[in-house]
Amino acid sequence: MSAVTGQRLEEKIRNKSATVGIIGLGYVGLPLVAGFARSGFSVLGFDIDPAKVAALEANRSYIAHFPDAVLEELHRLRRFTATSDFSRLEETDAVIVCVPTPLTAHREPDLSYVQSTANQIAAAARPGQLIVLESSTYPGTTEDILLPALEGAGLTLDRDFYLAFSPEREDPNNPNFTLQTIPKVVGGVTPRSGQMAALLYAGVVRTVVPVASARVAEASKLVENIFRCVNIALVNELKICFDKMGIDVWDVLEAAATKPFGFMKFEPGPGLGGHCIPIDPFYLTWKAREYGVATRFIELAGEINAAMPEWVVHRLADALNTRGKNLKDSRILILGVAYKKNVDDIRESPALEIIQLLLARGAQVAYHDPHVPRLRRVRRHDLALASQELEEKTLAQSDAVIIVTDHDLVDYALVARHARLLVDTRSALRKRQIPADPERTVLS
Ligand SMILES: NC(=O)c1ccc[n+]([C@@H]2O[C@H](COP(=O)([O-])OP(=O)(O)OC[C@H]3O[C@@H](n4cnc5c(N)ncnc54)[C@H](O)[C@@H]3O)[C@@H](O)[C@H]2O)c1
Repeated sequence: MSAVTGQRLEEKIRNKSATVGIIGLGYVGLPLVAGFARSGFSVLGFDIDPAKVAALEANRSYIAHFPDAVLEELHRLRRFTATSDFSRLEETDAVIVCVPTPLTAHREPDLSYVQSTANQIAAAARPGQLIVLESSTYPGTTEDILLPALEGAGLTLDRDFYLAFSPEREDPNNPNFTLQTIPKVVGGVTPRSGQMAALLYAGVVRTVVPVASARVAEASKLVENIFRCVNIALVNELKICFDKMGIDVWDVLEAAATKPFGFMKFEPGPGLGGHCIPIDPFYLTWKAREYGVATRFIELAGEINAAMPEWVVHRLADALNTRGKNLKDSRILILGVAYKKNVDDIRESPALEIIQLLLARGAQVAYHDPHVPRLRRVRRHDLALASQELEEKTLAQSDAVIIVTDHDLVDYALVARHARLLVDTRSALRKRQIPADPERTVLS
């Protein structure tokens, strides 16, 4: 970028006359739209899904914790337009990419979304733009995919465009942290690109954390998720171990958590879910193979966590068995199918795996989830089920109830009173101080 063009972009960012393009209007993209628009920037949102674009333009949100009122506000301010017309990328000064980065059927990184977005940006690029990738990915993606696409369009880094990576740290529906208050790591492909991206985010978030490079920023995101993945696997392994010893893992963890230093509490559960923790660690595993490095810790954590739905089903089958019942033909009610409490996101949810395992063993499965009225097709599951009302009758008619996700909207006292057999994978009753009948309750 010529010094003059760079200065002009800097000025536009500082005085918030820059137009920010956000590509991928999902769980990550939408909060960013709101953050930039409320901070005074004009935002153009891009998505390949015309239904989402139409919904946003009609002030209809498709994400439970992103209220319609926010869209109304942004439209009232005239700071937001959603579009599927990618030629309009030309109108933007800064472009932030938040498209999916899933795994393929062979558990390898699927960067097709990032690649096609890179091509779209390159096709509409003009000198004087800043491009930032936010999708979680392996170190080197920004340089390996976005840089060649833009250079292929005849543009030169730090002369015609700036390029950086900044990981998203959204924790959906956590009221304690917002886009503004979560520190934002930013790393440029070059120092100058990093500075430009840091300047952009400083207009929206309280604390920008500039790091040495885009690779460091990419790697830091993976480390955060690997940390959780490995620690959750550890407590899941301990749960199985203590269960065999007749020790309640929840008691143990509560006791250990009273140590005021050197211990961080993680909770066991029915397995991992969401778009990040079950997926991102394997982006690093895959990349590490290129360098001849075996990431055994991560693989092991993945194996342990992936086996948890099987463990839950096994515990249920045992408990039914001791009551003289077979899993086959039993009526099982699943409580909570979202991957974590109080959200409507079912991606990679262990509930889907548990349902699939139960169906494969001949059980009749129904579910209740106040946030998920019906199951839609996701990567590995296509289950045509709709949420049942949670009533005394539904509970009493089920041979067993499994709490997979402990949404706060569920009446657990009702569940505790009427479930004939309750498998509680989240210690949901104890957390809410609801007494459980030990004859009818299994912690799993
Ligand atoms: N959901 C989270 O809590 C979270 C947290 C941190 C990081 N991330 C990462 O952020 C990225 C996005 O995740 P998400 O949860 O927002 O996904 P999402 O599926 O909710 O949203 C992605 C959006 O991108 C759109 N899209 C797909 N291809 C596109 C393309 N070529 N051009 C334009 N739009 C396209 C989809 O239609 C969808 O609306 C992923 O890399 C994810 O790992 C997610």
